[in-house]
Amino acid sequence: MTRSDLLSVADLGREGIVEVLRLADSFAEVSERPMPKVPALRGRTVATVFFESSTRTRLSFEAAAKRLSADTMTFTPATSSLTKGESMRDTVETLDAMGVDAMVVRHASAGAPAQVARWVRASVVNAGDGQHEHPTQALLDCFTLREAIAAREGRAPADDLSGLRIAIVGDVRHSRVARSGVLAYRALGARVVLVAPPTLLPPDTSGWGVETAVDLDEVLGSVDVVYLLRLQVERIRECLLPSLHEYAERFGLTRDRARRLAPEVLVMHPGPMVRGLEIDAEVASSARSLVTRQVHNGVAVRMAVLFRLLAGGRAGAAGASGEGHGAPGAGGVAEAGQ
Ligand code: NCD
Repeated sequence: MTRSDLLSVADLGREGIVEVLRLADSFAEVSERPMPKVPALRGRTVATVFFESSTRTRLSFEAAAKRLSADTMTFTPATSSLTKGESMRDTVETLDAMGVDAMVVRHASAGAPAQVARWVRASVVNAGDGQHEHPTQALLDCFTLREAIAAREGRAPADDLSGLRIAIVGDVRHSRVARSGVLAYRALGARVVLVAPPTLLPPDTSGWGVETAVDLDEVLGSVDVVYLLRLQVERIRECLLPSLHEYAERFGLTRDRARRLAPEVLVMHPGPMVRGLEIDAEVASSARSLVTRQVHNGVAVRMAVLFRLLAGGRAGAAGASGEGHGAPGAGGVAEAGQ
């Protein structure tokens, strides 16, 4: 990992993922307090720089930064000098010059956050870049799964997901959530099967270390988790689907399919959900659905990510010297909260 950025799940490796999950355990505890705030990043500034729309990811990062007592700035393209022709480079360099410590960047083009990281001194967190990656979504999904399994088995969360078989269903081809998810689940030992019509599978998955399937009904009997993806209509340029109705029939988690699932099978979705298309409205709100938990846990996981990148020194200095700052264990976070 370039120690001061989070651009891909691959930057973390298994060890880094586990470190984030354990830090997030402590921050989840902070979030339960009547005053859910710790002074860990007091004096630091976190800017959300979203060139593409978002509800939960941006708000979640802003909530995370605020709970760490960082100052926050929100860059909104529609009301910025981008509309006067200012380039992305000038925009992020301007923010950087104001003394921002971390930029949380979302962009419709793959690789944009990595490019920003080359221009600025601040730490850069990829909040979703085109079809490429969405690392914090994968981290919060791992956290949520690990929490749900621990609760079911009445034990503390384990970092290992081996033994789990996760079906990622739908528009895998255009999904950054799927790409980051596969890296993270595999790093923690889970097996992944991608289920989609052939037109919505990536052209080559040989290096992904996953199985693929085109028949959802064949897969449902042998998986522990059904992770549904939103159809990325804004990225589908050619005619890849006969009709939305047919897609829902063949790849949607309908009420009928959900009824046939074993009781312990968990259902996830990164949001925004299109109820009735990839997931039935009732199934999305049923007991087996972790959708709300995913959103809830996103804040603690993003606190862990920001803390890991920024605590202990100026982010720029850490990045420039190639030495990051190790995150303290739970004790350190608990102390920060005193
Ligand atoms: C995802 C995204 O934007 O990549 N949403 C999210 O961040 N929770 C998934 C999506 O838009 O389908």
